[in-house]
Amino acid sequence: MKGLVLAGGSGTRLRPFTYSQPKHLLPVGGKAIIDYGIEALAAAGIRELGVVVGMETDGPLRQHLADGSRYGVDIDYVFQPQPRGLAHAVLCAEEYLAGEPFFLFLGDNLLQDPLGEMVREFIRTERGSVIALKEVPNPSDYGVAQLDEQGRVVRLVEKPAHPPSALAVVGAYAFGPEIMDACKRVRPSNRGELEITDAIQSLIDDGRPVLPHRLRGWWKDTGKAEHLLEANECVLDELRGMAEGETVDCQLSGAVHVAPGARLEKCVVHGPVVVAKGAHAQGSHLGPYVSLGPEAQVVDSRVLHSILMDGAQASQVGALTHSILGRRSRAVGKGSTRTVSLLLGDDGHVQFE
Ligand code: TTP
Repeated sequence: MKGLVLAGGSGTRLRPFTYSQPKHLLPVGGKAIIDYGIEALAAAGIRELGVVVGMETDGPLRQHLADGSRYGVDIDYVFQPQPRGLAHAVLCAEEYLAGEPFFLFLGDNLLQDPLGEMVREFIRTERGSVIALKEVPNPSDYGVAQLDEQGRVVRLVEKPAHPPSALAVVGAYAFGPEIMDACKRVRPSNRGELEITDAIQSLIDDGRPVLPHRLRGWWKDTGKAEHLLEANECVLDELRGMAEGETVDCQLSGAVHVAPGARLEKCVVHGPVVVAKGAHAQGSHLGPYVSLGPEAQVVDSRVLHSILMDGAQASQVGALTHSILGRRSRAVGKGSTRTVSLLLGDDGHVQFE
């Protein structure tokens, strides 16, 4: 079975970060979002992957993922000229998929559960599809599945005002080749996209079995900045490990991962915290739930529940919480004791008293 990872799109809801890089490459828990999906597919035994890229994501994703060998997979790229929806992205991959069954994965989704069980369920259902569902408290914000008494999916509705269940459609699906014709039948939705939910509904209407796979673990769709911070926390909750890099006069508690080549000096660190190579913190309180990217710097500050990307700096900030600092951005607090939450794009600079 091949894998198809969707990494086109425009990521408008994650601006300003997506002005300068694809959302799939934004870091959570010290790794790019898309790395988690590729690793999960590889762990499920799916070794041939097509990655759908668009105009804006093509170059950076090719550079990051390359031929896939560092993940133990073979990656081919499929170009989607415009982000016209998930079903359109699947249609763009028709030649790559060559009539084979495939696992469709949205490259901005993060799942705690491994994908192997879903693949096995798909193999057991002949001529059927399997779609991942997750019970959520706010189903009206998602595509929602309605099941019949036998537990089959009978209807999918996008962002319903009166949801028929609390089961949200997650970005992981196992399809047979018949989905291609179903995608061809789809017409643009109200938002002008070819929706994969409409293609699945058309399979159901044709009498094809569509089986649910209920996720037990957490699921994060990293469409918005707040989701990125939530995903960072979920991933860091699974962090095990201790300092390997240099720590001088520090108090460490919980899971604290300091990469070789990083340095913490006179810091109090409450894990989970991950510190990438070349990052440096001094005289600061870090954590919980902090990811410091490569070459990031924190000086005389308190940082919690935040992501600092490559080369970002926080200096003399009373407390920086629920913040994302883009690459090379700088937050300078001049000794202020205020608690601030910042979303600062790449190369941004904010200074406050
Ligand atoms: P979405 O989050 O639905 O869309 P988007 O990434 O364009 O973001 P926004 O709505 O903020 O502008 O996309 C889900 C995943 O599917 C994501 O990994 C991007 C990918 N995708 C494509 O590959 N092609 C497409 O046409 C679309 C809409 C999304």
